[in-house]
Amino acid sequence: MNIEKTIEWIKTDNLKGVSRMIDQTLLPYEYKKIDIKTTDEMYNAIKTMIVRGAPAIGIAGAHGVILAAIESINESDFKNSILKKANYINSSRPTAVNLSWAIKKQLEIVEKSNETKEKIIELLIKNAIKLENEDIEINKKIGEYGSAIIPKGATILTHCNAGALATVGYGTALGVVRSAFEKDSTIKVFADETRPRQQGARLTTYELIRDGINTTLITDGMGAYFMKKNMIDVVVTGADRIALNGDSANKIGTYMVAIAAKYHNIPFYIAAPKSTIDPSIKTGEEITIELRDKKEVTEINEKPICIDEVNVINPGFDVTCASLITGIITEYGIFKPQELYKIFE
Ligand code: MRU
Repeated sequence: MNIEKTIEWIKTDNLKGVSRMIDQTLLPYEYKKIDIKTTDEMYNAIKTMIVRGAPAIGIAGAHGVILAAIESINESDFKNSILKKANYINSSRPTAVNLSWAIKKQLEIVEKSNETKEKIIELLIKNAIKLENEDIEINKKIGEYGSAIIPKGATILTHCNAGALATVGYGTALGVVRSAFEKDSTIKVFADETRPRQQGARLTTYELIRDGINTTLITDGMGAYFMKKNMIDVVVTGADRIALNGDSANKIGTYMVAIAAKYHNIPFYIAAPKSTIDPSIKTGEEITIELRDKKEVTEINEKPICIDEVNVINPGFDVTCASLITGIITEYGIFKPQELYKIFE
């Protein structure tokens, strides 16, 4: 299968280039790719969710370090200038660990290299393209392992968008769906709308229906209703940061889905690459949850849906406790949350 990259580095000449990405804020109404040419533009692209989804923003961070190096070429303290700009990009969104993971991988190259500035830029480009290609390969492995837990003809509930759009291609949770669908075209997906940014409604249904997968859109409050009616067989979502004990941060609302799944004895899986596991944190208590603009809650398509005076709080993510998670599907196989630490052994 030839996979189109949702985000990729495009060389424009020897040492220059752009980060080309699908503008996800326009989907599904408009499919448009934009070129990010500066570190400021990259900060904004991540912050405003032009590019979103943990693995995709990781690659955006890797591209951001290339842009930082290109912008720093005439600086006497080249390495320090890159570091400052990279830290700025890293501050754009706090929850998904893939962002700092990929930036760190690029900064290691900068720190360790005694090469010329030009050579360092070349090495950064090479590494970013390697990370892009690896992301697709990893997702296919996640898909392959994950397809084993999907019963024949199952209906899979997913939350947010952990698909091709949230990665370089193929997806994590939707990679599992895609791989299962290749073996059994009778599987079905229920996609949560995912308020407030509607990634489920806008992106997941767009991706899956284009692939010919039977997809039903439901609002976030409907999951438990369909579970009770025995209409959901398994839940698979992505993650933004997983603690060593298996506690998993994902889009706000995932925790509620996991609680409902546990109550109804429905298996709940997280699908994520090793780069989403943060070995520096023991439990989900240590995960920083991004607080986003209140307008995401008070407006839909820039139209207010409530009076101005209302109090609003808008956390972008929640943490699903390890005890609610049946398994974590990675490129190294499926782990019980309590055995996740083995992935680092
Ligand atoms: O705020 P978003 O859209 O970046 O949140 C995305 C999610 O929560 C995804 O489920 C997660 O990043 C996994 S993507 C493979």
